[in-house]
Amino acid sequence: MTAFKHFQDTKIQQIEAALAHHLPACHIEPKQLHEAMRYSTLNGGKRIRAMLVYATGHLLGVQQPALDNIASSIELVHAYSLIHDDLPSMDDDDLRRGKPSCHKAFDEATAILAGDGLLTLAFNVLTKTECTDEQKINCIQLLSQASGSRGMVGGQAIDLANEGQSISIAEIENMHLHKTGALICSCITLVASLKFQATDTQYRHLKHYAECIGLAFQVQDDILDETSSTSALGKTQGKDKQSEKSTYPSILGLKASKLLTEDLHNEAILSLSSFDQHADYLRDIAQFTISRIS
Ligand code: IPE
Ligand code: IPE
Ligand code: MG
Ligand code: MG
Ligand code: MG
Repeated sequence: MTAFKHFQDTKIQQIEAALAHHLPACHIEPKQLHEAMRYSTLNGGKRIRAMLVYATGHLLGVQQPALDNIASSIELVHAYSLIHDDLPSMDDDDLRRGKPSCHKAFDEATAILAGDGLLTLAFNVLTKTECTDEQKINCIQLLSQASGSRGMVGGQAIDLANEGQSISIAEIENMHLHKTGALICSCITLVASLKFQATDTQYRHLKHYAECIGLAFQVQDDILDETSSTSALGKTQGKDKQSEKSTYPSILGLKASKLLTEDLHNEAILSLSSFDQHADYLRDIAQFTISRIS
């Protein structure tokens, strides 16, 4: 087993345990809401955002309890974004992580509320992070910016507005950097903010790495929507074309999109060149981002 595979397996167990601990138990009222929140968060997903938090923490020597809280808060925001993304008024997708989407397993109102519950829980978890008050405020600021209308939510609005439209590469890049890149970037910046100022060279290098893989991640998601299968993805294949989404393959074609992921990967690796072998897990995640098949 490679060191990265071992790291991945260990950290998946660690994040699942942390999330299970933070989510209210199913027997606590309102039971159906808590059941829906747990259903859409636990035992599923690649946990790439959590991996990025732990890998950045490994590089910078951050204690595990703080990393558990940061990783949980970002995975909670991500789980909420997926529930809302699948709603009939958004992407209208019935399958997520190989199971019926939240609004199918429960109902639409429960899915909306489960998303709301996860988003607010994320910030509650961040307030319990073992760090100084100033560091906590920084983390809360970074995650709220990445999640909100200037970040993920804004990107989702752009995505919906662009359905059926023909847009430029610059516009699609902007959309992807917001809807997916912003939250992925926060995995690195929250941890880096515990050690550096935003103006420090190391912080800027790490942030640039994060921006490159955040964009590459969504380009690969677009490619897989065309080339993979519903069973491998655990979500409906071909949905982008069906909904007339603007994606990289729809504008550039598959080959050029694949080349772009490779360029972004190389740029991400270059951004890490001043770091020693402690950054290897980040290097491995960059490779995973563009070679993943689900
Ligand atoms: C899916 O994210 C939504 C995008 C931002 C592309 P992931 O591919 O990380 O989904 P999970 O968490 O592994 O299910
Ligand atoms: C979703 O992008 C980005 C989010 C913020 C959830 P997609 O709509 O392409 O994600 P999938 O393909 O449904 O996972
Ligand atoms: Mg979407
Ligand atoms: Mg979708
Ligand atoms: Mg997609």
